[in-house]
Amino acid sequence: QKDILDMASLSAEEITHILDTAQGMKEISLRPVKKVPTLRGKTLILFFHEASTRTKTSFDIAGKRLSADVIALAKSGSSMAKGESLLDTVKTLEAMHPDVVVMRHGTSGAAQYIAGHLKSPVINAGDGKHAHPTQALLDMMTIRERKGRLAGLKVAIIGDIAHSRVARSNMEGLIRMGAEVRVAGPPTMIPKGVEEVYGVKVFSAVEGALEGADVVMMLRIQKERMENILFASEREYARTFGLSTGRLALAHPDALVLHPGPMNRGVEITDEVADGHHSVILDQVENGVALRMALFYLLAGGMRHADED
Ligand code: CP
Repeated sequence: QKDILDMASLSAEEITHILDTAQGMKEISLRPVKKVPTLRGKTLILFFHEASTRTKTSFDIAGKRLSADVIALAKSGSSMAKGESLLDTVKTLEAMHPDVVVMRHGTSGAAQYIAGHLKSPVINAGDGKHAHPTQALLDMMTIRERKGRLAGLKVAIIGDIAHSRVARSNMEGLIRMGAEVRVAGPPTMIPKGVEEVYGVKVFSAVEGALEGADVVMMLRIQKERMENILFASEREYARTFGLSTGRLALAHPDALVLHPGPMNRGVEITDEVADGHHSVILDQVENGVALRMALFYLLAGGMRHADED
């Protein structure tokens, strides 16, 4: 693979190899000196055209832990603010010989578009409503680490499926790895044909999707990608679709609760659940660094083994 653009283009073997590599990388972050020389002399460009806390920071830290030179550029600080096109911008960046370009963009298909014009590997850090493959991979790493497998697990993805690139990438990845994926949310936020396209089960009520679930993945309502607010109020949303301790009791007693962040506390998830013992939300963040280290290592072709000092 030259690029990591979506989960649909990764085979089960490739996903397993990425997760295994990421698991090996995790130990580096626990050392007193959190740095190995694996990607010394490599240049990584992070181009974030949309806001990000977790993804941008973890790509930045991942590159630095592998000793690469990391250059981060935002839309507001680039000449795109003066009207330069996306293609001219990325071709300009490529003329500086980066080894990997990471891009987040608000338009679905933006990462695919630039990957088609660049020789450098491109990692999609989220494009519109389309895909967020590194989030799905770190979610799968977190689930596999806790449950020991992905195949056969019942995973409930609850909330605004229609506007969520995280949901799309997780549906593709988890089904590919043999999980049973259930989705539930407001009918206006469930894409038409999702059962046929992804092979997931749609539940009209959250309670049905939660019944016996091994993993519960809650999603944020993506107000920035909606033309209209499609429910009466946040309080009404929380009452009907939010994950409370009472509702979580329907899931398996050892169920994991995931959320890609940022959370709307009190809307899709209560404080008690977000901070409770089922929650692995901060494990997701921790694994995000290791997972992105693995992708840089695999795509930028480190000359040394990652463990070598
Ligand atoms: N999960 C995620 O993409 O978070 P950020 O928008 O903070 O990067």
